[in-house]
Amino acid sequence: MRISIIGAGYVGLVTGLCFSEMGHEVLCIENDPEKIDSLRKGRIPIFEPGIEGLLSEHVRKGRFRVEEDPREILQTEITFLCVGTPSRKNGEMDLRFLESAAVDVGGVLREKEGYHVVVVKSTVIPTTTETTIVPILEKSSGKKAGRDFGVAMNPEFLKEGSALRDFMNPDRVVIGALDERSGNCVRSLYRDFRCPIVEVSLSTAEMIKVASNAFLATKISFINEIGNICKSMGIDVRKVAEGMGYDERIGPQFLRAGCGFGGSCFPKDVSGLIAEAERRGLDPVLLRSVLKVNEVQPLKIIELLENRIKIDGKRIGVLGLSFKPDTDDIREARSRIIVGELLRKGAIVRAHDPKAIDNFRKEFPDVEYLRSAKECVEGCDAILIVTEWPEYADPSIYEERLVIDGRGVVKTNNYEGICW
Ligand code: UDX
Repeated sequence: MRISIIGAGYVGLVTGLCFSEMGHEVLCIENDPEKIDSLRKGRIPIFEPGIEGLLSEHVRKGRFRVEEDPREILQTEITFLCVGTPSRKNGEMDLRFLESAAVDVGGVLREKEGYHVVVVKSTVIPTTTETTIVPILEKSSGKKAGRDFGVAMNPEFLKEGSALRDFMNPDRVVIGALDERSGNCVRSLYRDFRCPIVEVSLSTAEMIKVASNAFLATKISFINEIGNICKSMGIDVRKVAEGMGYDERIGPQFLRAGCGFGGSCFPKDVSGLIAEAERRGLDPVLLRSVLKVNEVQPLKIIELLENRIKIDGKRIGVLGLSFKPDTDDIREARSRIIVGELLRKGAIVRAHDPKAIDNFRKEFPDVEYLRSAKECVEGCDAILIVTEWPEYADPSIYEERLVIDGRGVVKTNNYEGICW
């Protein structure tokens, strides 16, 4: 099938390249000329294992191409909207980019003779596709959804660092559809997938996505809260999580206590759900506490440090800046809270990260960045491990220095674990 993708960001690129890999012809529409130029040269603006090879292969084969003009969509049968839906200051999802993409696509549909399906893949608050995107598409195209064109919602469940694997081997494919014809068109793209295909309404598909993320975030804040209680009792929460995880109702995943969750999804989706619930006059106490736990959890690492040394004027090494390993992404990373607090308390901060230094430096120019963990540690009074990059697991790096481990990466003689 000839597929068009609006937005060459993280989700759009992974989605488009995986569809190319599956044999489809993919056109990616991007409005940033610099990004278009680098993609055409096979250069990817994000770090995601395996994606650069896919891009150069499919650009070379002519199966994946990048354009700026939305009218190119006319030569495709289905369009995926993969633009960002960032958080506003009040926690609500900012739909500006998605609405603008819908106006562009609707404008092109006005000229299209045949049938076309528009699929929302961006994460949105439930009812958005039906109440906001469909009306925009109808207004800008002058056509009727469900008759002249189809509408569907097909959320992604991609984890940064394993996105290609997650796309090609999902636990389930969720397809929300306005009508049967729209649903059939999207389902045909996944006909070779062996996982369950969950076919529901547009709003149900949107809720499956945000509720899944909110549950995973809840699981993390839960084990962090249990971890803090365990720490006060001298219990290793990692052993507790292991014992819990054998219960198939609980499962072992997302029970890793640490200094909290970051990334562009969990904080944004939970905040968006809270804002929408409150807008409807509800009181999402549990979801608010998931974020509250996550705001204070990084400070536990500072608390443990202060129990051992006075921070003001001391040289503190921070290992790990990205919100998780195998990415250069620092959005909502807990390192930002930790480094901000160290600087506020008068520490001299030295930092290392295998991928995220360039991104982090933009926000924290006063930090000294080192090329290796070993160099970062030199001369420091204490070391904080904030992201579990594999190279930090070598105990010889630390010698006898105090290590406060926020992720359970290593064990040394002069050591404190955040929840163990
Ligand atoms: C998440 C969801 O997993 C994915 O399904 C969704 O599509 C996008 O959001 P991502 O944010 O890329 O994916 O990474 P994930 O691996 O889920 O980790 C998110 C954060 O939670 C990271 O900061 C990680 O360090 C933290 N985390 C994860 C924990 O602290 N403990 C855990 O047990 C798991």
